[in-house]
Amino acid sequence: MIQEKIHSISYKLLDFDDLGNDKKLIESAKAAAKNAYAPYSNFQVGAAIQLSNGEVVIGSNQENAAFPSGLCAERVALFAASANFPNIPFIKIAIYATSTDFEDILSPCGACRQVIHEYEDKQNQVIKILISNSTDKVVQFEDSESLLPFAFKLKGLKKQ
Ligand code: THU
Repeated sequence: MIQEKIHSISYKLLDFDDLGNDKKLIESAKAAAKNAYAPYSNFQVGAAIQLSNGEVVIGSNQENAAFPSGLCAERVALFAASANFPNIPFIKIAIYATSTDFEDILSPCGACRQVIHEYEDKQNQVIKILISNSTDKVVQFEDSESLLPFAFKLKGLKKQ
């Protein structure tokens, strides 16, 4: 017997002006993109993480001549936040990359989605994801599962 299953995800499309508090976090991600080191792709990405203690940790993509050695903005920010504030939950992450077409909004790579998921598992609390570009539109996901259905989970590694 074959059973076809459907798994749907949801996300919100918002106007920047309707955002309230999240505007500041997106501005931080936009400012962070200016610190990108992206001489190979010339594609600057910024990320800003809001921690539950009020701190904001930023990151930008960092490239390397030995290509796999570079890292995306999201993971630079996530690892910096975890290294500096190991037991403080991450509430949300804002991501920014310049593009003037809404359809062209940045979609985080699979590895970054998996890393966001790992920290959600660790802190037992979801992380909201806000993605923005040069348009006035913002895409919001309530958690990593919305971006990465069937993510690999920490418990998969633990002995039953
Ligand atoms: N990049 C990010 O920083 N975040 C993403 O979500 C996608 C891609 C970076 C990696 C590389 O430095 C450049 O963008 C081009 O792929």
